Amino acid sequence: MSEQLDTTPTTGPVLSAVNVTKQFRVAGGHITAVDDVSVDFHAGKVLAVVGESGSGKSTLARMLLRLMPVTSGQIMYQGKDVTHIKGGELRKYWTDVQAVFQDPFSSFNQFFSVGHTLRRGMGRQHLSEENLDQLIETCLGYVGLKPADAVHKYPHQLSGGQRQRVMIARALMMNPKVLLADEATSMLDASLRVSALNVLQDLRDNLGLTVLFITHDIGQACYLADEVVVMEHGLIVERGTTDAVIFDPKNDYTKRLLADVPDLKGSLKVRKDG
Ligand SMILES: Nc1ncnc2c1ncn2[C@@H]1O[C@H](COP(=O)(O)OP(=O)(O)OP(=O)(O)O)[C@@H](O)[C@H]1O
Ligand SMILES: [Mg+2]
Repeated sequence: MSEQLDTTPTTGPVLSAVNVTKQFRVAGGHITAVDDVSVDFHAGKVLAVVGESGSGKSTLARMLLRLMPVTSGQIMYQGKDVTHIKGGELRKYWTDVQAVFQDPFSSFNQFFSVGHTLRRGMGRQHLSEENLDQLIETCLGYVGLKPADAVHKYPHQLSGGQRQRVMIARALMMNPKVLLADEATSMLDASLRVSALNVLQDLRDNLGLTVLFITHDIGQACYLADEVVVMEHGLIVERGTTDAVIFDPKNDYTKRLLADVPDLKGSLKVRKDG
């Protein structure tokens, strides 16, 4: 079998879950964390998966990332079934589909500078020193950090928002097709969160990156995303363009989530006008 994953572009979705179910064994039986979910994520868009705590968002994310096996169903990447790929194919998949998680601090070695962390992140990729420095500079630039300053900093010298940006830069160094951010901004305070969300939008606009943004906060989802998927109890209960979900929600659960963010329509208008 070829070591390379065939990533010939196709016209369909970049990433899909097809009838994906995840059950966990618990005392006295099992729970269904993700229940027969099918969803397509289209290239070059920001797609939000939103739902309350325990609705199955991270479980779905881990299966999409091939970090957790499915109980049943398929994960498709660029038209290819990747549910059971292994070895070199899986490593290539993990290059193409990068993740950024919630707590950036715990993802750093406190004794390593940003520059060192980013170099190590490249692992076995064969790049000359010069090209590696250039790549680090470019990727720090993409996330709005000044490379000359940032490379010498240690984690404790960075704000939460800056650490989060470094994590995104590290993911970008792999030249991914998809960036999955699971509650990546929930540790940040409000102003930093907006700028982190703007970074993700810039990546979509400037690099054509597909961003999968997972959050319990429908306000953030609607601010950022082109399309929104709403999960409740392991099921997708609503999906659509952000405008459709905000202005014409079909599902009662979506309506309840939206009712908790009274100024959402106003802030969406601000985003569009400005
Ligand atoms: N490893 C596990 N073993 C048993 N149950 C699990 C496991 N992981 C998740 N669950 C359960 O699956 C359900 C979905 O969890 P999941 O972490 O996917 O939710 P979530 O939507 O990401 O929530 P949050 O917003 O709090 O991050 C929950 O009921 C959770 O308790
Ligand atoms: Mg979660």
